[in-house]
Amino acid sequence: ERESQYDFVIVGGGTSGLVVANRLSEMSDVTVAVIEAGDSVLNNSNVTSVTGYGRSFGTAIDWQYQTEDQKYAGGSKQIMRAGKAIGGTSTINGMSYTRAQNVQIDSWESLGNKGWNWQSLFPYYMKSEGFQVPTQDQISFGADYYSDYHGEHGPMKVGWPKFLTNSTVLPALDESFNHLGVPYNRDVNGGLMVGLTSHPNTIDSEANVRHDAARAYYWPYQSRPNLKIISNTHANKIIWGNDSDGDAVAIGVEVNNINGKQIIHASKEVILSAGSLKSPALLELSGIGNPDILNKYDIPVKVNISTVGENLQDQTNNGLSYEGKEFWLGSPTFSALPSADQLYGESFYTIASNVNSSLADYAETIANSSNGALKASNLLAVFQVQWDLIFRSKVPFAEIVFLPIAHTFSVEYWPLLPFSRGSIHIKSADPSEPAAINPNYFMFEQDLTTQSDVAWYIRKVFGTRPLADLVGDERSPGLEHVPENASDSTWNSWVKANYRSNFHPVGTASMLPRNKGGVVNTDLKVYGTKNVRVIDASVLPYQLCGHLTSTLYAMAERASDLIKRRYTF
Ligand code: FDA
Repeated sequence: ERESQYDFVIVGGGTSGLVVANRLSEMSDVTVAVIEAGDSVLNNSNVTSVTGYGRSFGTAIDWQYQTEDQKYAGGSKQIMRAGKAIGGTSTINGMSYTRAQNVQIDSWESLGNKGWNWQSLFPYYMKSEGFQVPTQDQISFGADYYSDYHGEHGPMKVGWPKFLTNSTVLPALDESFNHLGVPYNRDVNGGLMVGLTSHPNTIDSEANVRHDAARAYYWPYQSRPNLKIISNTHANKIIWGNDSDGDAVAIGVEVNNINGKQIIHASKEVILSAGSLKSPALLELSGIGNPDILNKYDIPVKVNISTVGENLQDQTNNGLSYEGKEFWLGSPTFSALPSADQLYGESFYTIASNVNSSLADYAETIANSSNGALKASNLLAVFQVQWDLIFRSKVPFAEIVFLPIAHTFSVEYWPLLPFSRGSIHIKSADPSEPAAINPNYFMFEQDLTTQSDVAWYIRKVFGTRPLADLVGDERSPGLEHVPENASDSTWNSWVKANYRSNFHPVGTASMLPRNKGGVVNTDLKVYGTKNVRVIDASVLPYQLCGHLTSTLYAMAERASDLIKRRYTF
């Protein structure tokens, strides 16, 4: 049995993990190993192609995690996709680059995460970004930006695809949304996201290939002698040494690969970056979690944190489509991000007050469904913040993605801030066994209604000229399935029969004070440990209005600086 030793051992060479690996290995006197279950996808055309979204789904580089039966959503299971490759989920995702609403990041701090706010994160969005200024040609097709919002020197290339959709679409969308009170937003990446926009993607515009975490943060740096990727290798659990000052001390990670089991030793830290559907399971397998769960599988309790794996939050995605009256070429990057008042008009106040009076019930229901792992009072505090964001700060309420391609104009959409909460927990002490993943989609009637309301609104958008003139019949759902004046229950049935995961799971190892249900502190260190961190989508305490990678890159950049500060003095 071979053994190896590094200063830092990072589990998961994905979106967040490779940022940390890159930045820590800038310290030439430390060694960094990354344990990654997948392999290189540098030359995988399902990955590199900028028009290949979806092509890698169901292939060997897709974990395709299966959920438990979704009892509030019609009963069936869902597939939650995630990348299994050097580069992680950034190698299979939709490449949209949108950040978050500024007040949303500020609310992390108001909930007790000192130092984490929009102002402190913004420089790290810039640091990670290699913005490619659009060409005159791209600008004439709708690419737009404020240079103050963008960093041009970071590793992650951000820009527009080489071939953008016909220039007639955006003005038509703009005029229609103007009639509906939704403004045009030239650049959603400065912290104010509401409006219609043509956002950039994580793409190398020049080479016209996807820019994923590996292309940005690993391959150009692969020759660093102190940085090693151990690929095709599955991490099983953390190995512990003797406690120090009452805190658990990690000394390495047990892994499994073609050579069998071995331990990769860590003399400084173990950092979990395996994604929000894996990092909490790794914590449980290592003895950090809810004793009720660990005891079931005879795993000795190292640190009692009952909220590990709780707070799972995803969004739900449905699609509509219309017959196109034009023929569209090129890659569309158009999204509308209406706020709740824009979407609901006069019913806004009634909905705001109905939701407000339900918050305590939501908190109670979720606390009960977690068997007491979550406290209702902690959930309520988060829900109040969420309510404030939606109904007072009026952050974007839904994202509507417009996809005019060839002869079809389709749309995908998802409400951004659902109230449902689920969990992910191990079902066995065997690390190769899948975990129980339960997002509890549509746990609350309100989330289901919202999903239907946004579909209804999209119909209204497509009925508004001049957009209405660009399309013919509605193909999906189609008036024969959901008639013009369909009841709520007809819409709801359509939603449940056709929805999918939006693939944005977060929250399963939340950054929050320990007494408020947190798993990691503001250094992203796991409570009760000396040297274990989680740095990936698990630590986002709740959902964001942007797509996730931009914020994960920024967060991993900032976390890397926090770690480096500890080791460079
Ligand atoms: P990530 O999944 O990137 O990394 C985890 C890594 O750990 C993986 O490489 C995995 O193989 C590895 N791993 C897991 N368990 C392991 C173990 N036991 N041992 C060793 N290695 C292990 N975001 C966005 O910004 N724009 C978009 O357009 C989209 N679109 C989109 C589409 C689809 C289909 C998906 C699935 C997701 C998106 N997203 C997105 C979301 C975004 O891509 C996602 O949230 C992040 O990439 C997640 O980054 P993490 O660092 O959390 O995990």
